[in-house]
Amino acid sequence: MTGLRQTGRAGLEFLGSLQHFSSGQLRPVASRDFYADPDMEALGDAPLGDRSRGELEAILGRAKATAAKSQAFRFERFYQRLVAEDVYNRGIPAAEELRPSLKAMAETPVDMSQAGSLTLDPSLEQDDYYEGVEWHLMPGGWDGYDLAGPMFMLGVGPMIFSRGGYAAVEVDADISQQRMQVLGELPRRDYRRVYEAGCGGVPTIIAIRKSFPEAEIVASDLSTHMLKAGHRVAGMLKLNVHLKQEDCRRTSEPDNHYDAVVSYAVFHEMDDQAALACLREMFRIMAPGGDIVISDPGPVRACTPFQAVLYDWETEHREEPWFTASVLRSLPQMMREIGYVDVQEYPLEQGPYPWITRGSKPV
Ligand SMILES: C[S@@+](CC[C@H](N)C(=O)[O-])C[C@H]1O[C@@H](n2cnc3c(N)ncnc32)[C@H](O)[C@@H]1O
Repeated sequence: MTGLRQTGRAGLEFLGSLQHFSSGQLRPVASRDFYADPDMEALGDAPLGDRSRGELEAILGRAKATAAKSQAFRFERFYQRLVAEDVYNRGIPAAEELRPSLKAMAETPVDMSQAGSLTLDPSLEQDDYYEGVEWHLMPGGWDGYDLAGPMFMLGVGPMIFSRGGYAAVEVDADISQQRMQVLGELPRRDYRRVYEAGCGGVPTIIAIRKSFPEAEIVASDLSTHMLKAGHRVAGMLKLNVHLKQEDCRRTSEPDNHYDAVVSYAVFHEMDDQAALACLREMFRIMAPGGDIVISDPGPVRACTPFQAVLYDWETEHREEPWFTASVLRSLPQMMREIGYVDVQEYPLEQGPYPWITRGSKPV
């Protein structure tokens, strides 16, 4: 397989190390500074717990002001932002150096006999909450760069993301393993039909296929590039998944059909209305007795005051416009109002990420 050239690789490895240093070394110092402040010391470093939205917002405002007083915090956040931008400033030239061979690689025939299928819909409208957003500062958004797939696979993924320490992901955390753990939270092992809402380039499908080898798997996303790249991966790994370019708030799926629904890292990219519409749609397509598992960053009430500041930072500084809104809302409340039963929420590990929300459709 083509590898990045030395300069491109070195640049990305440097960013991976900088992010690791920032999250692993500077962040604990910033946290100590934060709780040394009398206001935050009085509040304490326990999760904020159940409070009104107004109260949580007020605490967040005070906590942000306190954090900003710490030099360690300012450096830590400066490095986070620098890495988030430079991923593309360095990653794109590193991929461009190899454009002909990456293109050739992308066009090399793959045995697609067990890929499943890909249904694209060029007329699909992108909605207000999604339209024009350059997610994670990616120029042009999810569909903005044609070599994004190989850039992530050869460089950004292994050299930066695999080291953790960005957004809600803890330093050194293994998010592939976390996806398997999330699937383990579904209460049954005998699902026949599984649906994933917002599958991206299929990393969670890999975990779904491993967890449910015999199930029919259908998944949706809005992004053309990610679905195309995902379909190719599906061929290589024989995932046998049916990928559809459609909005998970209004799918073409039949009523009462899927006995399991999965969503990983999607709800924090939705505004409240979109989140509600997606939950309603998933309820519609779920079979009676079916189960849903959702994994995303946990709510503010599960965060310590310092974590709440870090989560909020994503909204303004890493192009995640709905991150703060997503952690202030209550998915379980929305789900109960729709009719889901046995709704539960809890962390998978210590701390608010990965956070599980699950429920079922009544029989
Ligand atoms: C952070 S990615 C997560 C992708 C994947 N679930 C994973 O495990 O990596 C969020 C994905 O949600 C998709 N998405 C956002 N809103 C959507 C919608 N309304 N319908 C379908 N997909 C959506 C985005 O296109 C993006 O690929």
